[in-house]
Amino acid sequence: TQPPVLAPVESTGDTDVYEITQREATAEFFEGVQTPIWGYDGIFPGPTIVSPRGRTTVVRHRNELPVPSVVHLHGGRVAPEHDGYPTDLILPADGSLDDHHGTGHGGHAGDVTHGSRSYEYPIDQRAATLWYHDHRMDFTAPAVWRGLAGLHLVTDEEERALPLPDGDRDLALVIMDRAFDEDGALRYPSRDPELLETPGVTAPYEAGVLGDVILVNGTPWPYQEVDAVRYRLRLLNGCNARRLRLRLDPAPDGVDEPLVQIASDGGLLERPRAHPHIDLASAERQEVVVDFSRYGPGQTVRLVNDFGSGTTADVMEFRVVREARDESEVPERLSEIERLDPADAVRERDMVFQSNAVDGQHGWTINGDPFSVDRVHAAPNHGDIEIWNLYTDFHHPIHLHLVHFQVLKRGSREPGRFDGGWKDTLDLGPAEQARIITRFDGYRGKYVFHCHNLEHEDMMMMGNFEVR
Ligand code: C2O
Ligand code: CU
Ligand code: CU
Repeated sequence: TQPPVLAPVESTGDTDVYEITQREATAEFFEGVQTPIWGYDGIFPGPTIVSPRGRTTVVRHRNELPVPSVVHLHGGRVAPEHDGYPTDLILPADGSLDDHHGTGHGGHAGDVTHGSRSYEYPIDQRAATLWYHDHRMDFTAPAVWRGLAGLHLVTDEEERALPLPDGDRDLALVIMDRAFDEDGALRYPSRDPELLETPGVTAPYEAGVLGDVILVNGTPWPYQEVDAVRYRLRLLNGCNARRLRLRLDPAPDGVDEPLVQIASDGGLLERPRAHPHIDLASAERQEVVVDFSRYGPGQTVRLVNDFGSGTTADVMEFRVVREARDESEVPERLSEIERLDPADAVRERDMVFQSNAVDGQHGWTINGDPFSVDRVHAAPNHGDIEIWNLYTDFHHPIHLHLVHFQVLKRGSREPGRFDGGWKDTLDLGPAEQARIITRFDGYRGKYVFHCHNLEHEDMMMMGNFEVR
């Protein structure tokens, strides 16, 4: 099943206003077991917002959680005051934390609001599968783990004009791994050292927190009934730290590359590209079209994770129920993508993502420094095109706020098979280097970039860039 689509509370002129309440609730992940969660509108994942390009979306968030929160629209082109800077807290609506708001490292208060906040999204960007999630300083990982994440889809004319599968043949799949206690409670190791020894959960400071249950749209290993026609699948890796390699099992007879990719983080590719499997690190999105007419009615097709083992090797099932008419197509040409030219870059920067001792403790750093609200790693001028060389010591999915980028090189090689189109998150392996190019435009101000392994992010692998 799909997360419910949220209806606006108000539409005026060119603006749609939505309201979301962040609150404690329970979800029934396992039959008859109520699991406490933190949910946008009390559900896991949160409701889906659909915004047509050209209309402004305002989302009024009310925080009824016992902790401060921050909302970030991942992949959104948004002014800095609406981007969910990690110290721009919404304090709990009950006023319980009004007097002592811990603002994290350095003690610098951000732009703090009491009880609620309205985020304004201009939606002046291409159609794409975006998502929103908590972004509070030091506590993003446990908050997202408890459920503070949801989809935000941007649609536009260009995409609507294409004959791609749509309606109930356009499925979003939010894939998340989680771990549970015997009583059904979500288990996050946080600061309890005993939990680090728990099977199914690994230490938070190394690979990040992994769970042994795979949820799709909040249901463990679900099945989806499909007609024997083409479907569009919007894949989001909503895991804190787990990398996925998704494959259909079995592959249709005689087809080695049944996953036809049409879009990535920043929307449509120029042309479709067929793959045998899809690799997806935390926060990455890839969209594929699958033609289930290559399977007969009655057949079950598993979506498996080749990077997992045991319970995490399984994701979900598609059950092909019946033949049906299909007028959809995947056109040879999907969109046009402006290619940024390295000759237009005004400077190059190196960004080294590595583990380091921070105050005598193990931490994660960028260019040797842990995150600080005052440390600016890059200050491009508005409109500048820059090349960034990203270096890693371990797996790090690197994410930039505000801008989308293009991959120029992977080490000395050409970009990888999943690097096409506009990206906002790029997965790098251990001791890898990637060369990316982007244009810093849209807004002036301070934004973060970080590793999207959420434990690494909370462990300070984050920096600021300031567009001047
Ligand atoms: Cu999806 Cu800075 O985050
Ligand atoms: Cu983001
Ligand atoms: Cu990392």
